[in-house]
Amino acid sequence: MDKIVILDFGSQYTQLIARRIRECKVYCEIWPYHLMGYDLESPEIKGIILSGSSYSVVDANAPPLPPPVLESGKPILGICYGMQLLVSALGGKVIHTHGREYGKALLEVLENRGIFENLAGDIVCWMSYGDSVKELPPGFRGVARAENCEYAAIRDEGGKIWGIQFHPEVSHTPLGREILANFLFRVCGCQPEWIPESIIKQQIQWIRNEVKDKKVVCALSGGVDSVTAAVLTYRAIGEQLTCIFVDNGLLRKGEAEQVFSKMKEILGKERVIYRDAREQFLSALQGVVDPEEKRKTIGRTFVEVFEEEAKKLGDVSYLLQGTTYPDVIESISVSGPSVRVKTHHNVGGLPEHMQLKVIEPLRFLFKDEVRRLAVELGIPEEIVWRQPFPGPGLAVRIIGEVTEDRLQILRDMDFIIDQELRKSPIYKKLWQSFGVLVPVRSVGVMGGERTYKYVGVLRAVMSEDGMTADWARISYDTLDTIARQVVNEVAGIGRMVYDITSKPPATIEWE
Ligand code: XMP
Repeated sequence: MDKIVILDFGSQYTQLIARRIRECKVYCEIWPYHLMGYDLESPEIKGIILSGSSYSVVDANAPPLPPPVLESGKPILGICYGMQLLVSALGGKVIHTHGREYGKALLEVLENRGIFENLAGDIVCWMSYGDSVKELPPGFRGVARAENCEYAAIRDEGGKIWGIQFHPEVSHTPLGREILANFLFRVCGCQPEWIPESIIKQQIQWIRNEVKDKKVVCALSGGVDSVTAAVLTYRAIGEQLTCIFVDNGLLRKGEAEQVFSKMKEILGKERVIYRDAREQFLSALQGVVDPEEKRKTIGRTFVEVFEEEAKKLGDVSYLLQGTTYPDVIESISVSGPSVRVKTHHNVGGLPEHMQLKVIEPLRFLFKDEVRRLAVELGIPEEIVWRQPFPGPGLAVRIIGEVTEDRLQILRDMDFIIDQELRKSPIYKKLWQSFGVLVPVRSVGVMGGERTYKYVGVLRAVMSEDGMTADWARISYDTLDTIARQVVNEVAGIGRMVYDITSKPPATIEWE
C-alpha cells in the first residue's frame, strides 16, 4: 500500500498532518526525525513530509535534516520548519525574523500547478511568522507569496520538492486539505487505498503471519478499541483467540451485561469468558482514597484476576491489545512522552508479568479509523459510538473511598444523565458526559423536611482528543430536567451542580 512518511521535528501539529492525509485515504506514518536508519528507499513510500518545529533553523541545537531524505529522491513537502530545513540544506538562506507567532494571511498563488493545481485566486492560510526564507536555493522558485512573506511557497525546478511557510493541516487554512491532496495525488502519485476493507484485509494477513498457530488472549474492556481488536483478530485466527472479560464492578449501569452478551453473539460463546471480580476489586479498594493509589490498586487487581483466568487456558503466547496510534506516537515522540497528569492503567503490567508477546493490530489507527473499521466489521452502533471510558472506571468518578453504596448512587445518577443527554441534539457532539459523586453532604429541603445528602456533579465536555476540552453548552432545559430527575429519583443525592471548568486548567475526570 502507498505510504507517506511524516518526519516529525517536534511540531504540535504533526498528528493533525497525519489525520488529514489519512482523510485523503492515504496511509502515512509519523517518524521522529532522530530515529535514524530509516529505509526511505522502500518503493511503497511515495513521499516525505517534513513537519514544523518549535525550533528555529538558525538555533545551534536545531534538529537537522537527516541525509536519507534528500538521497531518497522522493517527493518532499516541507511545512514551515520543514521548508526552512530544505532551504538551508540545499544552499539557500533563512533568517530569524522574530519569535514564533501564528496568524491568518492571504496567499497570492503565482502558479496554479502541483500542490496549487485547480486552486485559483487568493487563499486564506494559517501562517507561522518566525523564520523566513531570504534566499532560495539554486533551481528553486517562489510559487506563492503573502504580505510580509516573499516566499510563502516554493518549489524546485522539477516540481518534486515543495516548501510552504503556512500550515495546510489546520482548519484555519480552509483549502489546506486540497493542497495536501494535490501533494499526495499529483506530486507523489499516491492511490487512495487506505479504506476500511483494505485495512481489514491487510491487518488480518498481518495477524496470521505474526501469530501462526499460537494462542492469543485478549482482555475485553467493552470499549470500541478492545472490541474491534478482538473481532478483527477473531476474523484472522478464529478459535485461537480467547477473550476474557473481567467485571470489576466499576462499569456504568448495564454495560457489563451488554458487552458480554454482544461479544458472545459476535464471537460465539466459547470465545468469551466472563469473570465476576466485583468483590475482589471492592475489597482491594477499601480505604483507598488517593486517585493514583486507586489506579494502581485497580491495575494490580486486574493483573491478578486476568492472570488467574489466562492460566486456565494453558499454553497462550500472545496478549492482544487495542492500543491506537496516539498512544504509539506519544511513546516515540520527538519531545519524549508528554507529561502525564494521570497514569493510565488499563492492562498495566500484564505483558511483563505473564511473559506474553503483545500484538496490537490497531497500533497505526486513529480513533475515527477504528470506528470506521468497527462499522465495517459489523460491530453494533452502541459499542462503536460509545464515549471513551477510563480504565479505572467509576472509581475515579467517586471522590474518596469507593464503596458499593456509593457505586450504586453514582450508577443511578449517571444513568439518568446519560438517558436525558441522549435525547438532546448536543449528545452526538459530546466527547464525554457522565456523573461524578462528591460524597460530601449538603443541606436541602424535600416535602417540608430537611435533607442532608451527597452532591452530584454533571460533567460534559467537547473535545477532539481528550488532551484539551471545553465544557459543553447544554441547554438550561436539559440541565433542569437532569437536576430534577436525579434529586427526585436517586436517594443519596440532594443537590446537583454542573462543572463549568475547561481542560486545562481542570482535567476531564475529577480524579
Ligand atoms: P483527564 O481526566 O486526564 O482525561 O482529562 C483525559 C482522557 O483520559 C481518560 N482517562 C483515563 N483513561 N485510564 C484510562 O484508560 C485512566 O486512568 C484514565 N484517566 C483519565 C478520560 O476519561 C479522558 O477521556
